[in-house]
Amino acid sequence: MRLSIFSSKPYDRRFLTRVNEEEGFGHELVFYDARLEEATAQLAHGSAAVSPFVNDDFGRPVLADLAEQGTRLVALRSAGFNNVDLGAAHDLGLTVMHVPDYSPYAVAEFTIALALALNRHLSRAYTHVREGDFSLQGLLGFDLHGKTAGIVGTGKIGGIVAETLLRGFGCRVLAYDLYLSDRLRRLGVEYVDLDDLMRGADLVSLHCPLTEDTYHLIDRRSIAGMKPGVMLINTSRGGLIDTGAVIDGLKAGRIGYLGLDVYEEEARYFFEDHSTRLIDDDELSRLLTFPNVIVTSHQGFFTREALEQIARTTLGNVRDFEEGRSSSNVVRAHPGEQNGRRAA
Ligand code: NAI
Repeated sequence: MRLSIFSSKPYDRRFLTRVNEEEGFGHELVFYDARLEEATAQLAHGSAAVSPFVNDDFGRPVLADLAEQGTRLVALRSAGFNNVDLGAAHDLGLTVMHVPDYSPYAVAEFTIALALALNRHLSRAYTHVREGDFSLQGLLGFDLHGKTAGIVGTGKIGGIVAETLLRGFGCRVLAYDLYLSDRLRRLGVEYVDLDDLMRGADLVSLHCPLTEDTYHLIDRRSIAGMKPGVMLINTSRGGLIDTGAVIDGLKAGRIGYLGLDVYEEEARYFFEDHSTRLIDDDELSRLLTFPNVIVTSHQGFFTREALEQIARTTLGNVRDFEEGRSSSNVVRAHPGEQNGRRAA
């Protein structure tokens, strides 16, 4: 089947091409640097399947353009589908498939990396030493051992983070989820309500999907309920956080450390080199001025293992669709859902 791949980077081309050839999928792959949006949808003309990435435009007008020119399958190369208008896809007869499982370890390990880098000021230490400053000024950290972590969303990724902090670092782990994991409970994870988690945690890490319920889960109210000096990490979706409220929390010292791999307005910047251009997003610019903030460009998923699995599942989804096989990777619109904001 002919598959038009949008927002494709050299690494996407490398992994998709290799897996397509070595594992005998035999699809016709057409790569575009451009992100999928109204102005570029026509590039997919003649492709029964398109494969966009997380920050592409999946609104009704784009989906309508795709459907009109013969596309029948949207094969996402991501787990998250919060920005897909699933209602529109359904109306237009488009099937949407995603990659529910690639490497949860990739994102979980990156979450721990952010927490450690913030706590031990690794970025500052690196530049100090490179500039010949071997003093320890400004590098004081704290032991994670014995601290309390609060994990919001204990699915695949949050579950690994919880277990790692509990067993690897000797943290007490509080968790909040709509569904409780017996396995994690047996390990010693304590499920509490969200307010108690915020009140008790030295480190809050977000791993729930972006839904109507979780939009701006971190806002002025929840920040006021957190421990002063808390470390907040978000490797899930930018919309979980009200950025303005977090900036005020940082200025007031209520938030002591912030690690973001995702940002609500990331679609304008992330995955691209803007180093020679002006950043005209005032909130992003402000975040980048804080010494106790690390922002990374949605790289949690970016490991060899994850890219290989994303390629394999995406190409497998296209084959299942082509051969009319049913698949649990089909994303369905649920009643009451708006703009597909539901799961990841
Ligand atoms: P998952 O579906 O395995 O787990 C999500 C958990 O959140 C589930 O246990 C679910 O019950 C829980 N949840 C749902 N609604 C909730 C609510 N209102 N409050 C509390 N918990 C709620 O998902 P997975 O694979 O662990 O992914 C988690 C997040 O990480 C997703 O948002 C995904 O988009 C994001 N992600 C980020 C990546 C990155 O590169 N930074 C890469 C892959 C995923």
